[in-house]
Amino acid sequence: MPPERKIAICPGSYDPITFGHLDVIQRSARIFDLVVVGVVNQPVRKQQTLFTAQEREAFALQATEKLDNVQIEIFDTLLVDFARKHGACALVKGLRAISDFEYEFEMNQLNRRLAPDIESVYMMASPQYSFLSSSGIKEMATFGAKVEDLVPDGVAEALHERLARTKEQ
Ligand code: PNS
Repeated sequence: MPPERKIAICPGSYDPITFGHLDVIQRSARIFDLVVVGVVNQPVRKQQTLFTAQEREAFALQATEKLDNVQIEIFDTLLVDFARKHGACALVKGLRAISDFEYEFEMNQLNRRLAPDIESVYMMASPQYSFLSSSGIKEMATFGAKVEDLVPDGVAEALHERLARTKEQ
């Protein structure tokens, strides 16, 4: 019997993807045979995203093009259903600070209840990215701060373009 492929899901809004996300994706790709980056598309969510799901997917695709065992996919279902569809054994999340813990603790309980067979795995953020968040990046870009060393090039350009455009409206 061939050995079972270990598949992990790295889920998120990725609005937009940052070097912090990429760090978790790259490190996961060293542990698992396949990493599926799930870009959530939840129109029911109260909070609007700055970029469409297709734009967020395109940024993630570009940023991970050199990683052979990473694929990107948009999903709009329960995370555990998405994981099941891919035969994943794990959900991998990055943890930056204690402030992430409470939300992730709740998510862990919900997901565990829905799918006890799928393990949630928490990866501590690398110190250089422990302050980094997509919302922080958007705030910085809104006020014209430099974000080029925190997000991939295409994302930095898109942020400046989109937020400049938003300001004109
Ligand atoms: O980057 P984010 O916004 O923190 O990611 C949140 C995400 C996508 C992990 C979370 O919203 C999620 O899992 N959404 C899918 C719906 C779901 O399964 N919710 C949890 C159980 S009710």
